[in-house]
Amino acid sequence: VPTKVHFGKGQISHLAEEIRAHGSKVLLVYGEGSIKRNGIYAAVTGILNEGGIEYVECGGIVPNPRISSARKGIALCREHGLDVVLAVGGGSVIDISKAIAAGYYYDGDPWDLVLTGHRKMPPFPVERALPIVAVLTIAAAGSEMDPSAVINNEDTWDKLGFGYSPMRPVSVIMDPQYTYSVPRDQTAMGVVDIMSHAMESYFNNVPGAYLQTKISEAVLKTCVRYGMRACEEPRDYEARANLMWASSWAINSMIARGCRVVWSLHPMEHELSAFYDVPHGAGLAVLIPYWLRFMLSGKTAWRFVEYGVNVWGIDGSLDEMEVARRSIEKTKAFFDQLGMPTTLRQIGIMDDRDFAVMAKKSERLDGAFVPLSKEAIVEIFRKAL
Ligand code: NZQ
Ligand code: ZN
Repeated sequence: VPTKVHFGKGQISHLAEEIRAHGSKVLLVYGEGSIKRNGIYAAVTGILNEGGIEYVECGGIVPNPRISSARKGIALCREHGLDVVLAVGGGSVIDISKAIAAGYYYDGDPWDLVLTGHRKMPPFPVERALPIVAVLTIAAAGSEMDPSAVINNEDTWDKLGFGYSPMRPVSVIMDPQYTYSVPRDQTAMGVVDIMSHAMESYFNNVPGAYLQTKISEAVLKTCVRYGMRACEEPRDYEARANLMWASSWAINSMIARGCRVVWSLHPMEHELSAFYDVPHGAGLAVLIPYWLRFMLSGKTAWRFVEYGVNVWGIDGSLDEMEVARRSIEKTKAFFDQLGMPTTLRQIGIMDDRDFAVMAKKSERLDGAFVPLSKEAIVEIFRKAL
């Protein structure tokens, strides 16, 4: 993974050198203001000012970030001749920074890049992007160390993931203390998101990928061990640090190498976020138990047994289906403990009127652990209602 990581207390001291290694004029991208309240903005701009590094601000990036923000950021980079994108925030800020960085070199609308990247088709391969330096403020999406971004189009009600290797951040500052101010619910949603990334890779049909499976289990167990601790003790460094590192590892490609599967859970959740603007982690928490139950059968139970025994400590001598079912119950009970919603109604989705359209867009038939047809997805949504 080529991203250079500065991990630990005080690592912001490397910021100026990292920017200078890649350019001199910065687009400073951030969210809706948390960095101004917790002092990270002051620390970052202090370093930029002291180092004589020019910067232009692009703040106000919202969760489920909009393509219009990418258009704005690209225009600012061109107008001011900026050559580095500095993303200070979480997945939403870093993802928009990726769309800006890639869109900078493309003459058309950046949504073209999202569409073609999402469908993995020509004619617009992204061969270069502005360098992205990130300062991570929340453990969740893992965008800090991966080449992907997920962007909402407010005009078409789409939320689509796309990935190109030049969009992977060149460098990231990860100071776990920066996550002390993340509210309890956001912390919990982050834990669910990290777990979901490990699960998307873990539930695969590749036999014998032992090491990847064990690393995935370690990521999952880290979330189980430290998730509640970070919620209850927000300034617990060990908990925050382990979750932050888990967020990167869950999705930085290492655990998926050699046992790649087509992700089937995320496309469903992205539809919830596209149509109803729900937070990603909350949508996942509702869907995961239903998604797991749908995938469980006599044919797939062996994988659930591994998951139940190794992640949740369930007695492996029990009947295979019993272990598998208990593993799903344990997962759900953990999400309950975290205070996550358990039904779509709790996150504002009151009826099934959009389910057919959403299911059509998120169908995953080839390459998934268990193929999800549109009918299957409608069934999952209805059960989760
Ligand atoms: O906007 P501000 O005011 O900064 O507040 C944010 C936001 O409200 C707040 N926050 C972040 N750091 C904080 C903090 N509040 C207090 N103290 C801090 N230190 O947290 C809220 C959520 O921020 P966001 O960036 O949206 O969170 P997250 O990292 O969970 O990112 C979610 C986005 O990432 C996408 C999701 O779909 C969603 O749009 N994903 C990106 C992926 C990728 N690039 O590979 C993969 C993921 O599966 C995910 O889909
Ligand atoms: Zn996710």
